[in-house]
Amino acid sequence: MSIRHSDHLNDPPVVPVKFILEDPEGLTGSDTPERDLVVPKGCHLLEVAMENGINIEHACGGVCACSTCHIYIEQGMKDLTEATEAEDDRVEEAPGLQRNSRLACQCEITGKGPIVVRVPAWNRNAVKEAPH
Ligand code: FES
Repeated sequence: MSIRHSDHLNDPPVVPVKFILEDPEGLTGSDTPERDLVVPKGCHLLEVAMENGINIEHACGGVCACSTCHIYIEQGMKDLTEATEAEDDRVEEAPGLQRNSRLACQCEITGKGPIVVRVPAWNRNAVKEAPH
């Protein structure tokens, strides 16, 4: 499924974001466990990941209607939009819920970072998109 994009992907990259991948093979097809990126403000973490080849599951296309894009924010929670009630309700359905749990599609980058995101091992995009 294609995802909802912000209008900010082509803005200047200014915010450092590190992705820690518990299952790098499943998420990226490579065994590199960490990815250090610098990304524009205003993007959400799901689009930043997908643009950089990190295949976080996103069954609903990024509209807060599933919980498959569940991630953990290890650092930089204050640099992201606050969770809405709708996100809180959804994320409670996700496996492995923690205090730093968020939905990647709902985390818009608002601060300077650095932001550190852990993608759990069970989150991988098992259903690959069919070629168009
Ligand atoms: S992709 Fe469905 S809630 Fe984020």
